[in-house]
Amino acid sequence: MDALSNDIQEIVENDRAHVWHHLIQHKPFETADPRIIVEGRGMRVWDQKGKEHLDAVSGGVWTVNVGYGRTRIADAVRAQLVKMNYFAQTAGSVPGAIFSGMLTDRMPGLTRVYYANSGSEANEKAFKMVRQIAHKHHGGKKHKILYRERDYHGTTITCLSAGGQPERNAQYDPFTPGFVAIPHCLEYRNQFDVTSEDYGAACIRATEEVILAEGPDTIGALCLEPITAGGGVIVPPPGYWDGIQGLCRKYDILLHIDEVVCGVGRTGTWFGYQHYGIRPDFVTMAKGVASGYAAISCCVTTEHVFEMFKDDADNPMNYFRDVSTFGGCAAGPAAAIENMKIIEEEDLLQNTTDMGAYTLGKLGELQDRHEVVGNVRGKGLFLGLELVADRPTREPMEEKKVQAVVADCMTQGVIIGATNRSLPGLNNTLCLSPALIAAKSDIDEIVAALDGALARVFAPA
Ligand SMILES: Cc1ncc(COP(=O)(O)O)c(C=O)c1O
Repeated sequence: MDALSNDIQEIVENDRAHVWHHLIQHKPFETADPRIIVEGRGMRVWDQKGKEHLDAVSGGVWTVNVGYGRTRIADAVRAQLVKMNYFAQTAGSVPGAIFSGMLTDRMPGLTRVYYANSGSEANEKAFKMVRQIAHKHHGGKKHKILYRERDYHGTTITCLSAGGQPERNAQYDPFTPGFVAIPHCLEYRNQFDVTSEDYGAACIRATEEVILAEGPDTIGALCLEPITAGGGVIVPPPGYWDGIQGLCRKYDILLHIDEVVCGVGRTGTWFGYQHYGIRPDFVTMAKGVASGYAAISCCVTTEHVFEMFKDDADNPMNYFRDVSTFGGCAAGPAAAIENMKIIEEEDLLQNTTDMGAYTLGKLGELQDRHEVVGNVRGKGLFLGLELVADRPTREPMEEKKVQAVVADCMTQGVIIGATNRSLPGLNNTLCLSPALIAAKSDIDEIVAALDGALARVFAPA
């Protein structure tokens, strides 16, 4: 095919013939066209048929935080590329240096930025640092990494090893050893015999039991999403984060917060962990860092962590012997600088807080109207609605019906998400993560689409 062809049907046929899409069964594409997104502006995208959609999930996977069509980001990337596109990160780059300062200014207590280009890769960097610290400083002992049920940290085999979503992991084992699960913290699915008020404390007690069973001297780090994303939009209960921080201090465990989804504004603060006053040792981020205008991820650490790799400089094995070829692409930080400036200049953190509260209120109204909405939760523009077949017993709604709601919204021209291939029997949470620029009118349109979809899909027979 001529690379410059504009014949859209030819493009669709090429896609059908040669592209292997992510996260999707391809059999239906033998009879139906794959969807191709051709253009985007603000909150909206257009497909190959010219159909307009309001995107309530920021590029499908909570990424395009500042919205589509930002020419100033494209201009900054172009200017950077024609001047200097790439050099390995053994050397610095001008945008890399500038962005590292901007970023760490917004992350008190953290000082060092390690560049890579996907969320999975950033998490792998943190895991490798933990393992190397164990070798260098603990005789190899503190090498285990704790992760939480229902969390997701990426797609590589080692990230899946830290993955708390059995359906994501199934058929990809054997996994990397040394990763150990702690209990999830979704109070709506309270797995302990405690009241709501005691739920946070119960999660912490159960986590401490895991630490003690494994042996604190074997555990190097605890890796957590600040608010679980694909595992069901889980906001931890009161007391949870203080308890986690306390355990990390008590047992000398490094705290790794995976901000790949929450990072750079999604919840109304620069980072999700900043709602909770905790002091992480590692923070990883990717999606919203440059809103998808260029690939970039960061593993950010404290000076204390960084210093651990500087001692014994005469030993050629003693520093962080890691490389990410495309961590040296200058387009990533060039885009990230503009992305961050946009968030600040347009006051998008405040908008996210305000619109998040507005959306939560509207979703509460939906819950009042629709028996199937069992639980509404989230923070900022990061929200979930858990659907149930029966409210009193909280029996999860079957996935097919949840997907039917997503499909109905799509027909109406509104793109929403749902947990999928995540937890057996619990892929029942609808997800909303509109761009941080969302206005009340956008939220109203999204909620109206949901309202109609819920009414149609669950209409009495
Ligand atoms: C919390 C979290 N961490 C890590 C990742 C992996 O990021 P990537 O797909 O860029 O490798 C994801 C992806 O959805 C995620 O949701």
